[in-house]
Amino acid sequence: MIDVMDEYHASKPPHVPAELVRAFDIYHIPGATEDVHAAYAAVQKSSPDIFWTPANGGHWVITNGEDILTILRDTVRFSSTSTILPPMPETDARQIPLEIDPPDHAHYRRPLMEALRPSRVNAMQDDIRHLAVQTIEQLKPAGGCEFIADFAKILPIHVFLKLVDLPLEDKDALLSMVEGAVRGHTVEERQKSQQLIKNYLAKAVRERRSMPGSDILSLIVNIDIGGQLISETEAIDYAMLFLSGGLDTVASMMGFIIKYLAESPVHRRILSERINDERFVMFALEELMRRHGIANISRVITTDMTLRGVELKAGDRILPANAFVGLDERLNPDPLNVNFDRPKPIMAVFGYGAHACPGAVLARRELRIFLQEWLSRIPDFQIRPDSKPLMATGMVNTVLRLELVWPANS
Ligand code: HEM
Repeated sequence: MIDVMDEYHASKPPHVPAELVRAFDIYHIPGATEDVHAAYAAVQKSSPDIFWTPANGGHWVITNGEDILTILRDTVRFSSTSTILPPMPETDARQIPLEIDPPDHAHYRRPLMEALRPSRVNAMQDDIRHLAVQTIEQLKPAGGCEFIADFAKILPIHVFLKLVDLPLEDKDALLSMVEGAVRGHTVEERQKSQQLIKNYLAKAVRERRSMPGSDILSLIVNIDIGGQLISETEAIDYAMLFLSGGLDTVASMMGFIIKYLAESPVHRRILSERINDERFVMFALEELMRRHGIANISRVITTDMTLRGVELKAGDRILPANAFVGLDERLNPDPLNVNFDRPKPIMAVFGYGAHACPGAVLARRELRIFLQEWLSRIPDFQIRPDSKPLMATGMVNTVLRLELVWPANS
């Protein structure tokens, strides 16, 4: 079997100082099987603000939260044209709008921002709540569930299929394709899953281009790019990112949050007692998300420069992992502890700057509804004593499996 680290291992370029080389592989972080974010925090504590790793094609890693925010803001020196580690072959599809730099980026992004504006999300809120309540009520009498498959993946896939007006029966097939595309361990595995998603979406894209409806897919596949209709290829690529961007991320965040609450009776009790206090729940959610950054999206350096005294060259890849912002004790004291009294959680969970997540309003709403409806029905729960949560790191940190139990008559 080929080890991921070996297959994509790069030689140290001459400009990288030997003392800044560290073994760091986003797909295999020591300690992540116990607590992904404690593992990230340990890397951050034991590493310089910037270091270079030969893993996944060779790239810089930034651990300083302030520097990460600066990089995310600076789309001129830090391009988004290739965001995946290890890099996908150049012939592969671009992720749209993620891998397009300003100024062209705005043409692609603006209509999506419009489609996901707060009033649109408000209009979907009752449906999301209804589905959450229905799913929880079905699970509750059993006194336990496998949270990821039985709940976390259900809400976002329903929301996506509704947004794009595609049949709900396709949900299982789509979820498994997205899993392979995001978490496949080799470039080949991810490419294969991406092709399957592409084939599935291509049909819908063609239909929406010839006869647009009022759904979001119809909108993004008919975008005007500086006076020209977006090409069919780009429209399919856009639909693909919209799908993977909204599913895996929300489910992963739910998984990390419920795991934290399952392991911390104090936080569970405080949140359950104040679950009808909308403002408190909104704040508590921000703090829970700060502790649990998930997306690892890289950048390409466009010009030779120095950062913190280190020489970087055009073409180098750099990872401003957004979990490091929330976990940086210089920005958030005692970062591994969720503190509902923290004055202002500083984080980049939804990114920062030009590419900041356009789905953030929707994601926050799904997460808030989940917390409110889950905790008001199942306030007391824990990890099944004979089980161990299964987690993974990578482009999106995630919880793959999480067995929960609660008193069946609660
Ligand atoms: C908890 C859930 C979510 C998290 C943590 C998350 C995280 C992120 C992050 C960090 C970025 C910025 C990437 C970068 O700077 O390179 C991003 C971009 C994006 N997200 Fe999300 N996301 C979430 C939910 C969603 C949802 C629900 C949707 C769609 C409905 C969505 C669609 C997108 C799209 C299309 C982009 C690309 C934006 C651009 O390049 O301008 N995301 N997301």
